[in-house]
Amino acid sequence: MSHPSKHLLAIEGLEPPHIADLLDLAESYALLNRSGKTQRDLLKGRTLINLFFEDSTRTRTSFELAGKRLGADVINMSVSTSSVNKGETLLDTASTLNAMQCDLLVIRHAQSGAPALLSQKVDAAVINAGDGTHEHPTQALLDALTIRRHKGSLEGLIVAICGDIAHSRVARSNIHLLTTMGSRVRIIGPPTLIPADVARLGVEVFHDMKAGLKDADVVMMLRLQRERMSGGLVPSAREFFRFYGLDAEKLAHAKPDSIVMHPGPMNRGVEIDSAIADHPTRSVIGEQVEMGVACRMAVLDVLARRLPRNR
Ligand code: NCD
Repeated sequence: MSHPSKHLLAIEGLEPPHIADLLDLAESYALLNRSGKTQRDLLKGRTLINLFFEDSTRTRTSFELAGKRLGADVINMSVSTSSVNKGETLLDTASTLNAMQCDLLVIRHAQSGAPALLSQKVDAAVINAGDGTHEHPTQALLDALTIRRHKGSLEGLIVAICGDIAHSRVARSNIHLLTTMGSRVRIIGPPTLIPADVARLGVEVFHDMKAGLKDADVVMMLRLQRERMSGGLVPSAREFFRFYGLDAEKLAHAKPDSIVMHPGPMNRGVEIDSAIADHPTRSVIGEQVEMGVACRMAVLDVLARRLPRNR
């Protein structure tokens, strides 16, 4: 089934075959990357602009690498959040980008909905690399690919997503993807960090780690996103770790072969204990980064197929 849109703005709205196609293609890119080969003719003559209004290490670098591995000309534009009036700048930026005849535009922005707004103003295919607390679709794809490689399928798995759900676009995209693909999703966190309407998304809510982790196949930890919190939603990092930080004792409640994930950047000792983050068999955090490049190659490939012919 071909991708339903010119853009990738969200996971919400994609159907199982759309997701499965992207994951299958990403799997083939993962194998290509491991073999050391490239496919530099696919995006030859195309321009990809990385437009990041928020900090990023993994996402920006992996889009850059993905674009380069497929032969695109890649430009990184870093924009500081604090110095600009966002609405005005976005629209000004849109006309600049149009004048540059960019083909693929990767955008990260602190405001939910910014990529969707931009997609109405530019000719390029727009990829959401994280918007506010809304979505981060390529993160959910790379997480799903990593899970699939370990568990074979997403269907019927118990996936526990833990910690700061309220501020996490990663959680939101993962909830949409995993429930669409038939996983049983559990959300675990303190009431202050769980959105009131989250059960509407088809997840089970827990406030106790031991109960929520029981028999889980996948344990996904999230960063405590203090930059998005306006008040004291969490008493202290130490207390948060005691109740919600993943350590060996809490992980013992999940299945013995469960995998541990984290999108990064990690706050070691706050949401995850170092011994678990670096665990040689249980942690798949490094593999998530590797799959990030493969998934972004798949997304660029699929969207490039819908672009007008090369100039
Ligand atoms: C995430 C993000 O930016 O949403 N990071 C990432 O893309 N790997 C999660 C986070 O910032 O905690």
